[in-house]
Amino acid sequence: MPEKEKKQGTNISRRNFLKGVGTGTVAATVAPSVLIGSEKAADAQVDDAVANATIQLNINGKSYQIEVEARTTLLTVLRDGIDTSGSNIDLTGAKLICDRGECGGCTVMVDGKAVYACMMLAIDAQGKEITTVEGLAEGDDLHPVQDAFIQHDALMCGFCTPGFIVSSAALLNENASPTLEEIKVGLSGNTCRCGTYPFIFDAVKTASRKM
Ligand code: FES
Ligand code: FES
Repeated sequence: MPEKEKKQGTNISRRNFLKGVGTGTVAATVAPSVLIGSEKAADAQVDDAVANATIQLNINGKSYQIEVEARTTLLTVLRDGIDTSGSNIDLTGAKLICDRGECGGCTVMVDGKAVYACMMLAIDAQGKEITTVEGLAEGDDLHPVQDAFIQHDALMCGFCTPGFIVSSAALLNENASPTLEEIKVGLSGNTCRCGTYPFIFDAVKTASRKM
């Protein structure tokens, strides 16, 4: 195939591809007017998939109204979202690391349970209580897990730490006095590349005694 033709062959936008999937298989046998209708329907489908919606989220006890695309993740809203009043949400404690539900760096609590914010659509978080690491402390009083992480020096670079702290708090919500094995299982969805695991496990033990 000539070079130019090859290039044209690969130069397909996502919109045209989706339209093509909807119409290509019937193109040989269906009248042009029907094809135009199918094309419009495919267009509408694509537009629906990226349509904006105004949603209301309850984050750290505060209510936010945010305009999002249907595909926007909770993590994106927390870190980069702008309230309809114009203020940045700016909760950057949850980290974007793998963006595919593997590292736990983006962990937040949704109705008290640990959730990967990179894997949850913002629209699905409506009507739920979202707690980020910023929402764990009460005023100047750190959450017992935060205190224990400091006491046990349970961090090195600190990049994974917010996710571990939120997962630990969620674990202690469900099991106030976990064994070491239960702590390991409870935190198995979080990864620390610096290898601070023994200190983290000690910190969770200490926090469980305080709580
Ligand atoms: S960034 Fe969400 S699990 Fe890694
Ligand atoms: S402290 Fe560096 S990744 Fe965990």
